Amino acid sequence: MPSVVVVGASRGIGREFVRQYGDAGWQVFATVRGAGDDLGGATVLSADVTDEASLVAAAAAVPEGIDLIILNAGINVHDGGLTTVDATKWTELMTVNALGPLLAARAFLPRLKDGGAIAALSSTLGSIGANSGGGLYSYRMSKAALNAGLKTLAIELKRRHIAVAALHPGWVKTEMGGAGAEVDVGESVTGLRAVIAGLAPERSGVFLDYRGNALPW
Ligand SMILES: NC(=O)c1ccc[n+]([C@@H]2O[C@H](COP(=O)([O-])OP(=O)(O)OC[C@H]3O[C@@H](n4cnc5c(N)ncnc54)[C@H](OP(=O)(O)O)[C@@H]3O)[C@@H](O)[C@H]2O)c1
Repeated sequence: MPSVVVVGASRGIGREFVRQYGDAGWQVFATVRGAGDDLGGATVLSADVTDEASLVAAAAAVPEGIDLIILNAGINVHDGGLTTVDATKWTELMTVNALGPLLAARAFLPRLKDGGAIAALSSTLGSIGANSGGGLYSYRMSKAALNAGLKTLAIELKRRHIAVAALHPGWVKTEMGGAGAEVDVGESVTGLRAVIAGLAPERSGVFLDYRGNALPW
C-alpha cells in the first residue's frame, strides 16, 4: 500500500488530499495544529511548521519507507502596497510559507524512501517571472523563497533519486481562496495528484500547475 504524509491537513486543499488518497487506498499520515481532528482513516499527528520540535515528534510516529510528502501548510494576508505592509505579519508569512515547509521536509525526509517524492504547495504569485500585477509583498516573497528552497532541495536529493516539485493548485475555493475562486477543491486536488504521479527523479526541481503546465520561476 503506498503511503503519504500531508503536512497541514485540517482543511482546504490539505484535507482534500487526505480524503482522495485515503479513498484511493493509500496509507495517510496527516498533520494538524489542533487536537481531536477526525480525518477519516488517516493517522492524525500534531505539528506546527513553525515549531521544529513538533515536526520531529510527528515524524517519529511515521514508519520508514513513505512514498510521498506533501507540504501544504500556508497562510496569506492582503497587505496592499509597501507603505501598508505590516512587518510582523510579513515575517510570519516568511516563516510559515518559506521556512516552515523546508523544516517539515527536514523532519520527514528520514521517513521518505529513496525514489520517493516531495510536493509543496506554492503559487503563481511566487513566480518572479510572471509577476505583472504587483502587490501582495508578503505572500509573493514567501512563495518565491519557498520555490528557491525547493529547487535547492531537488538538487540535494538527486543522490537519493527523490523528485521535488513546487505546485500551483489554481485559485481554489477554500478558506484562503474564498468563495469567488475559480476551481473546486476536488478538481484541484485530482489534478495535483495526477501531476504528482507523473513526477520522477529525472523530472525534479519543477514548478507546475494543477493541470501539469510548467510555470516560470
Ligand atoms: N486556495 C488557493 O487559491 C491557493 C492558491 C495558491 C496556493 N495555495 C496554497 O495551497 C496551500 C493550501 O491552501 P488552502 O487554500 O487549502 O488554505 P487554507 O484553507 O487556509 O488551509 C491552510 C492549511 O494550512 C494550515 N496551516 C497554517 N499555518 C500552519 C502552521 N503554522 N503549521 C501547520 N499548518 C498550518 C492550516 O491549519 P490550521 O487549521 O491549523 O490553521 C490549514 O490546514 C497553501 O500553502 C496555499 O498558500 C492556495
